[in-house]
Amino acid sequence: MTRDTYRNVLLVGGAGDLGKHILSGLLEDSSFNVTVLSRVNSNSVFPSDVKVLKVDYSNKNSILESLTGQDVVISAVGGEGLSENIDMILVECALQADVKWFIPSQFVSDISHPFYSSLPFTTSKIKTMELLKENESKMAYTFITTGTFLDWGLENGFLGFDIRNRTVTLYDHGENFFSATTLSSVVKAVVAILHHPQLAQNKRIYIADATMTQNEILQLFEKYTNTKWTIKHMSTDDSFKQGAENYANGDKRKGIHQYLMSVIYNGKGASRFDDKLSNEVLGLPSIQPEEIIKEAVQRCKSLQ
Ligand SMILES: NC(=O)c1ccc[n+]([C@@H]2O[C@H](COP(=O)([O-])OP(=O)(O)OC[C@H]3O[C@@H](n4cnc5c(N)ncnc54)[C@H](OP(=O)(O)O)[C@@H]3O)[C@@H](O)[C@H]2O)c1
Repeated sequence: MTRDTYRNVLLVGGAGDLGKHILSGLLEDSSFNVTVLSRVNSNSVFPSDVKVLKVDYSNKNSILESLTGQDVVISAVGGEGLSENIDMILVECALQADVKWFIPSQFVSDISHPFYSSLPFTTSKIKTMELLKENESKMAYTFITTGTFLDWGLENGFLGFDIRNRTVTLYDHGENFFSATTLSSVVKAVVAILHHPQLAQNKRIYIADATMTQNEILQLFEKYTNTKWTIKHMSTDDSFKQGAENYANGDKRKGIHQYLMSVIYNGKGASRFDDKLSNEVLGLPSIQPEEIIKEAVQRCKSLQ
């Protein structure tokens, strides 16, 4: 089915933190003719054998031209591209260009959950989601919910664990469960979804490698670093309030992180979805969370 119907795949944001991994996964699969869409003024670098189309997002004709003949558009747009509604522009053009399937840049916790969707920085993802749903009879969509990127978020401190300094901030005493996915599983899921349109089209697909608490992760970190860690505490309510303050005062980066700590760790459901997973039906290999933590410690040591 993929070979005949969904062979031409256009990836947007293919050099980003997530997009570069999706690009590698797509290139490894000979089922797809892969093209990357990038901004005319972008400094992004791509492998030399990849076809790259450069567009000015203010020029709809140039976007339309790039999308014509594509079967699937996958967006991994991030940063300012989200607030500048690049996905909305792409969806509008994809509808005009008769693209068959659109996978927007979601790849976070459950953006359709009322707690998450009420946050100010989600507007663009929500609007894109609504536009795609309204047009599902003309162009299929798939929303991919991954939770936090687990390896990424543990290693760069995003999730509150500072491996180098053996320190952690526990939110709500580290007791709430959250679902999360490694970058390699996100990529495998994207590729598997392209191979299984009947399972994924016009649906939200949930994937996760682990559903754990911060306390469980801390225990594993203490085991593999052979040290007792220093613990700081923060309530998700306070994190939410500080996020709102910083966001309103213009420190959006800090505000979004504090808001997200609340979404991930408050146990209210936007970040826990282990009862909805498609990992098995998509044939994704299972990963032991303990391995992810062991590898995070090893990678941190190798960088010291
Ligand atoms: N679940 C998680 O833990 C997690 C973590 C990080 C990100 N994410 C999600 O993953 C997705 C990708 O995020 P990312 O961090 O990988 O993104 P990123 O690296 O910040 O950016 C990805 C690409 O977006 C394009 N882009 C950036 N600014 C743009 C603009 N103003 N206009 C048009 N295009 C622009 C660029 O592509 P070109 O230079 O080629 O034009 C860039 O390489 C987002 O949906 C994000 O929310 C999830």
